[in-house]
Amino acid sequence: MSQLSAAASCPPILPLKHGDIEGTATLPLSDYHAIDQQLLHKIAYDALVWSSLHGLVTGDKSVERSGSVPGVGLVHAPFTLFPASFPRSHWKQACELAPVFNELVDRVSQDGEFLQDSLSRTKKVDEFTSRLLDIHSKMLELNKKEGICLGLHRSDYMLDEQSKALLQIELNTISSSFAGLGGLVTELHKKLIIGRHHHIGWFLLRNMLSHYGELLGLNSDRIPSNTACNQFVDALAKAWCEYNDPRAVIMFVVQADERNMYDQHMLSLALRERHHITSVRKTLAQIDQEAELLPDGKLFVDGQAIAVIYFRAGYTPLDYPSESEWRARLLMEKSSAIKCPSISYHLAGTKKIQQELAKPGVLERYLENKDDIVKLRKCFAGLWSLDESDITKRAIERPELFVMKPQREGGGNNIYGGAVRDTLIKLQKAGSQEDAAYILMQRIFPTSFATFIMRSGCCHKNHAISELGIFGTYLRNRDKVILNEQSGYLMRTKISSSDEGGVAAGFAALDSVYLT
Ligand SMILES: Nc1ncnc2c1ncn2[C@@H]1O[C@H](COP(=O)(O)OP(=O)(O)OP(=O)(O)O)[C@@H](O)[C@H]1O
Ligand SMILES: [Mg+2]
Repeated sequence: MSQLSAAASCPPILPLKHGDIEGTATLPLSDYHAIDQQLLHKIAYDALVWSSLHGLVTGDKSVERSGSVPGVGLVHAPFTLFPASFPRSHWKQACELAPVFNELVDRVSQDGEFLQDSLSRTKKVDEFTSRLLDIHSKMLELNKKEGICLGLHRSDYMLDEQSKALLQIELNTISSSFAGLGGLVTELHKKLIIGRHHHIGWFLLRNMLSHYGELLGLNSDRIPSNTACNQFVDALAKAWCEYNDPRAVIMFVVQADERNMYDQHMLSLALRERHHITSVRKTLAQIDQEAELLPDGKLFVDGQAIAVIYFRAGYTPLDYPSESEWRARLLMEKSSAIKCPSISYHLAGTKKIQQELAKPGVLERYLENKDDIVKLRKCFAGLWSLDESDITKRAIERPELFVMKPQREGGGNNIYGGAVRDTLIKLQKAGSQEDAAYILMQRIFPTSFATFIMRSGCCHKNHAISELGIFGTYLRNRDKVILNEQSGYLMRTKISSSDEGGVAAGFAALDSVYLT
């Protein structure tokens, strides 16, 4: 039998890898652990078929040109076979925080001085942040105020095992991904649990309904629905309406070699189908070539008026290989098109600002509601700047209790474990300002559990931990807040031995929530 047909009839189930179970013999194992192998093969097979049929896919990096050519070289996105348990009370807590964080970002973004001052030391040593701040300064000089502000955010949390506290990892204000594919995994998990009753007659339905669900002891009602895609699209459409130019389109700013493009195309498609709004995709380099800014602030790209600029690129220095990309970013910022995010929303989502907001008395400058402030503080993990010498001393002694973070997005940039100690010692010896590039954060340790991760057609049994992201949408036109909502979620699960957590970056798998 060829490899292909072997895989087609029976996805291989790879056992726990040695590295994954080191020192974890006492881990709590979920009920899935004892699942019958034949049943597991069947479920894995059904899940793979479903994911291909429903577009739960990404570009395949092993196939050349796959990134930019739709329909060429696809692979299913990594996903878990079953949803991850999450306590209902913490779920509710995370959902309730979304509108409060939306409001906080909006308020902070309007305090240009706070953004500039908080990042002034970072600016000296971090070229990328410095360039963003330069654009922000230019807008302050021009006294440019964004009339219409659109935020599509995702606040990420982990549940700390020891303290039982829901703690925020970070808040993403630019390119918050997986509103599209994340919802598909929710749907997939619900379908697997409900079973295959669509294909069978009523007589059989009685016996087959909750087919896998019953066998696994799972109830699909416990998986909260996930309308992130529609809610993101509705927010984009509302912003488009506020811009009030029926001929204008929504522009997705994208990376040339994006692999996670189907997550973005789901939004474009829903924009067209739900709202009859056209969207176009442009790289920063194309925008530099094709954009024209009219004296009245209107932005045209390739002759097309732009109402909303939705950034799915521009968050990493890699997106700016030349001056051309920075020119494009500045030109867009100068325009009257609605930017998601504006430069000030982007800066409000940096890790340095997260750390500044956690200092005593800072939240009070931006929010009036005392209950909201208490709610936010409760989810703040320990956050420090490296000029706090008692904390750096402690981090050198116990580096495993900390994460060191530069001002970067997109995963793979943080420093963990022994490297925290080495980096801190190196920075101290150098005696330079380099330390301002980083913040220190308390390391959060979620409970580990056994799960099945589907990756490249194979089912891997792993010990894993989860991270819950809650999407939020916000739209304000001058004094009027038009939208401020929690908007679906993204559950990500990664093997417990991995430090980083990105799905697109290759560390984690898409998951959904099973409320307990
Ligand atoms: N304090 C922490 N404790 C434990 N793990 C952490 C902590 N901070 C970050 N991580 C892990 O590292 C991953 C990346 O961290 P973070 O989200 O801060 O960086 P990022 O580059 O902005 O990632 P993203 O692409 O998700 O926006 C997280 O998804 C999480 O798995
Ligand atoms: Mg991030």
